[in-house]
Amino acid sequence: MTTEQKELIKATVPILREHGVALTTHFYSRMFTHNPELKNLFNMGNQGNGKQQLSLAMAVLAYAENIEDPSVLVSAVTKIGHKHMSLDIRPEHYAIVGKHLLASIGEVLGEGATPTLIEAWAVAYQQLADLMIGLEQNLYSDAVAKEGGWTGWRPFLVKQKVQESEEITSFYLYPADGGKVADFTPGQYISLRLFLPELNLLQPRQYSLSNAPNGDYYRISVKKEAGKAEHPNGMISNRLHNAVQEGDVVEVAPPAGDFVLDTTKQTPVVFVSGGVGQTPLMSMLEYLASTQSSRDIVWVHGSRNRKVHAFREPLTMLEAKIGKLNKHIFYDTLDEEMQVSGYYEGVVELDKLKEQALLQNADYYICGPAPFIQKQFTDLAAMGVSPEAIHYEEFGPANLVLS
Ligand SMILES: Cc1cc2nc3c(=O)[nH]c(=O)nc-3n(C[C@H](O)[C@H](O)[C@H](O)COP(=O)(O)OP(=O)(O)OC[C@H]3O[C@@H](n4cnc5c(N)ncnc54)[C@H](O)[C@@H]3O)c2cc1C
Ligand code: HEM
Repeated sequence: MTTEQKELIKATVPILREHGVALTTHFYSRMFTHNPELKNLFNMGNQGNGKQQLSLAMAVLAYAENIEDPSVLVSAVTKIGHKHMSLDIRPEHYAIVGKHLLASIGEVLGEGATPTLIEAWAVAYQQLADLMIGLEQNLYSDAVAKEGGWTGWRPFLVKQKVQESEEITSFYLYPADGGKVADFTPGQYISLRLFLPELNLLQPRQYSLSNAPNGDYYRISVKKEAGKAEHPNGMISNRLHNAVQEGDVVEVAPPAGDFVLDTTKQTPVVFVSGGVGQTPLMSMLEYLASTQSSRDIVWVHGSRNRKVHAFREPLTMLEAKIGKLNKHIFYDTLDEEMQVSGYYEGVVELDKLKEQALLQNADYYICGPAPFIQKQFTDLAAMGVSPEAIHYEEFGPANLVLS
């Protein structure tokens, strides 16, 4: 890129800050009108609730802000690359997205979009696209290089459904072809896709693997997302709970994601989850148990109440196996039966636990709803934990920037 082109990109930063979501909303609507087949790739729930438009707007803004040195965005770009790989996004898709993004810049900016500005954005887009295509190519190559590995969509048999709580059910997924499944790093997710008759579309969703790698099957644990006043019921989670039965086939893309347990470390780990956010952390915990790890482990979990608290029994079994698990459970309301040591009333408050949750040289893994992650991150930082030691995963397009 020339210096003038970089200056032109930087000059669009204030516009992107103010109108970024308008731009990406226009972009998606344009792309889905001209290329409706791409609706099978995108999560139409995230289009409906606006999270994907926000996530893309944040990414485009961050790119424009850092156009002088995009290398600072490497971890954000890696996260997106994993998501793309898990959705089978291919190099040829980039030309379609580029075409609609540039046209949208022209249409949203109107007279402000001079030919030189559009040309600068074309060069900038291609630079980013080349970087992402290269990164994703490496992820695809790594995925097929593993025993039991594959790319794209592979049919899996739902061999077993196990209810873990009133709202969460686990699905045991075996390759329908009888082959092995690739190992993964605890914390990673798969994409699963189903045909939704109400939309006449295939729809993918990500689900964290909730078991330790075993070569034969994957386990996912899905919360049935109930609608509220202005929110419809979650489409895929309800279909998985209500319509998908043992013996049915679903399509699954290979494990991906960079929210992973550093399995090379021997230092303490603190797991902090809210609701269904415990799934990737269960995988990490099962892994530590199955490898007879001697790491100090703290498990902090928040649920609304006992009925919706999933994995209570499996956790007790893991606790017995690990021996060293330091467990703290928070319920919004604590019934009489649960007024025992290790159970607390209220939301997860790490400063209630103090040194029980703050261990020397520990890594902290947080997963739960966005406000939950934000609170735990802020509280840990206020207690002096370095941001580098705090890892978190959002169950939706990245909308948080915590540092
Ligand atoms: C990395 C990752 C890991 C994940 N792991 C898990 C896991 O282990 N377990 C799990 O249960 N989930 C997990 N999720 C979440 C999962 O992918 C789905 O988002 C979840 O199951 C909901 O999907 P759905 O199709 O049921 O809901 P959707 O139909 O996609 O709806 C999602 C939300 O948007 C709202 N919505 C939809 N349309 C509109 C509209 N027009 N206006 C307003 N609101 C709207 C819905 O009410 C709902 O609250 C994970 C997500 C990610 C990204
Ligand atoms: C330089 C170009 C691109 C950028 C900057 C970009 C950016 C992003 C971002 C920020 C996300 C959200 C990641 C997250 O979940 O946190 C995302 C997800 C996604 N991207 Fe891209 N992307 C690009 C190209 C593409 C292309 C070419 C396709 C293919 C059509 C594509 C399809 C998707 C899909 C399907 C998702 C998941 C959406 C969802 O879950 O709702 N992207 N991308």
